[in-house]
Amino acid sequence: MKFFLDSANLKEIKEASDLGLLDGVTTNPSLVAKENKQKDFKSTIKQICKIAKGPVSAEVISTDFESMKKEALILSKIDKNVVIKLPMTIDGIKATKFLSKKKIPVNVTLIFSASQALIAAKAGAAYVSPFVGRLDDISSNGMNLISEISDIFINYGFATEILVASIRNPIHIVDSARLGADVATLPFKVLLQLFKHPLTDIGLDNFLKDWNKK
Ligand code: E4P
Repeated sequence: MKFFLDSANLKEIKEASDLGLLDGVTTNPSLVAKENKQKDFKSTIKQICKIAKGPVSAEVISTDFESMKKEALILSKIDKNVVIKLPMTIDGIKATKFLSKKKIPVNVTLIFSASQALIAAKAGAAYVSPFVGRLDDISSNGMNLISEISDIFINYGFATEILVASIRNPIHIVDSARLGADVATLPFKVLLQLFKHPLTDIGLDNFLKDWNKK
């Protein structure tokens, strides 16, 4: 399973890269606006691409097909690793088809149902991003969606990768891995939580205490 960092914070991205666990990065307009008050989207993506040596998702802010196309073509020139993130809308899917035909990889975001994932895969998306946490937030079951999408993609041999998004805790990652999801995009806080177990800390503490006994 690949780990992407869901962040536009350069310090976090560098730290994840130093841990040797960074396979890519996903951003969205909210994350970029939080880190770059001038909202200089291009410069943020450029800096991220210098640190991360894998796919970096850059989301368009246009909502109509023609403007999405134009914006995507500009973003895709920033770096060879840029993946265009498009929303799951009719125009977004038209743009997915257009860009995929040009061999520009697309991540279709804001996926909340298996039918949306199927449409995105048929349009040639490189990734679909189902938002598990936001589904759990409304008392739905995010992980059921991953299971449904996985069944469908296996049935038809789609090359589209399942990129589990809106991850809130380590259980989301373990469950996604058990279901065979290709990628998990993690907030930095959750990446660090993956390392932790109280028994590891207690065990290490006891080993060192025993070792240092006089
Ligand atoms: C995915 O690419 C999104 O950036 C992200 O995972 C959304 O997560 P949130 O629901 O925590 O905002």
